[in-house]
Amino acid sequence: MTSTVVIERFDPAATAAGFAAYHDVLVASQDADRPGEPRLPAAELAGRLAKPLPGMGPAAHWAAHRGRELVAFAQVHFLEAENSGIGLTDVVVHPAARRAGIGTALLRAVLPELRARDRQVVEGWQVVADTAGERWAEALGFRTVRTIVRQALVVAGVDASRWDVPVPAGYRLRQWAGAAPADVLDSYAVARGAIHDAPLGESGYRWPEWTAERVRAYEGEARAQGLEQRVVVAVHEETGAVAGLTEVCSHPRRPDWGYQRDTAVIAAHRGHGLGRCVKAHMVRWLLAELPGLARISTTTGAENAHMIRVNREIGFSPERTMLAVRRDLAQPPGWTRPVS
Ligand SMILES: CC(C)(COP(=O)(O)OP(=O)(O)OC[C@H]1O[C@@H](n2cnc3c(N)ncnc32)[C@H](O)[C@@H]1OP(=O)(O)O)[C@@H](O)C(=O)NCCC(=O)NCCS
Repeated sequence: MTSTVVIERFDPAATAAGFAAYHDVLVASQDADRPGEPRLPAAELAGRLAKPLPGMGPAAHWAAHRGRELVAFAQVHFLEAENSGIGLTDVVVHPAARRAGIGTALLRAVLPELRARDRQVVEGWQVVADTAGERWAEALGFRTVRTIVRQALVVAGVDASRWDVPVPAGYRLRQWAGAAPADVLDSYAVARGAIHDAPLGESGYRWPEWTAERVRAYEGEARAQGLEQRVVVAVHEETGAVAGLTEVCSHPRRPDWGYQRDTAVIAAHRGHGLGRCVKAHMVRWLLAELPGLARISTTTGAENAHMIRVNREIGFSPERTMLAVRRDLAQPPGWTRPVS
């Protein structure tokens, strides 16, 4: 523990050895803070580095080396459009190198770049409640702005009859992979806007203002990074309008895993069981097309009791509570912790 710690910008994908060390720090940290969760495969991490998930914007990375050893890193995504004031930041320190001031030093190193890119707030969304991350964030003047429940549907452990959900009277289901069919695009964009009713706490994050053009741009981004996007919608028979939807993404590089994205039902159509119906139908469709699918993961605001209950009814179980933390950049740092 005697060598000096050096912090600098780096490209985690520049060399195979550098990437392996970066992956090692990440999985060691996952093992410490998210026990029981499958480790992020190296191929998945490499893919995300090459092409950040839709809506994340460009990324920048910082490394902390002690001697030749990578002991920690920070990653910032510069969110875009209505979220261009946010620097979404993850700081990860190897469990063996914690409490030496490295996390604080990394955050300090990131701040000038956040300011240079006109960010007003720094947010972190990957803090596991009741872990070092929560205590560190608190010590550095972040406040918790949102509590998020992470649930997973582990296919092998769920009775398949949970996905036998009849379509409520007055509605029919429609589904597509990739681009939304032209005849439903406008109505689908309107229905996506219903996500605005999902609580965001005091996070500075804003849901996208969905339009047909933005739906197409999002679909294009997903396609460009090889994501398979599946959508199930409930159509209101009387008007032909989309009343509710659910979206799950998967990637051939991780065939056992599905990422639940938005689920939303327009306010006028709530209370008929549409959310449960589209999600149950989605599970059946995914399993029919992706036989290797073992797990679907999802996150929901803790106060969103309806969504959490719907998820439970179709077999999702709680995994852990996550926190979104926020600090305004105008707030002076005031951290005195030196690296030891
Ligand atoms: C959170 C994390 C980055 C902290 O890194 P670190 O290098 O250990 O943090 P520092 O040494 O800079 O800690 C600074 C202060 O935070 C507080 N702190 C940090 N970890 C703490 C813990 N486990 N318990 C109590 N206080 C803690 C202390 O006040 C500490 O100062 P001190 O050691 O002088 O008492 C590290 O634990 C980690 O990688 N966790 C997993 C990922 C994560 O949650 N990241 C944060 C969200 S982006």
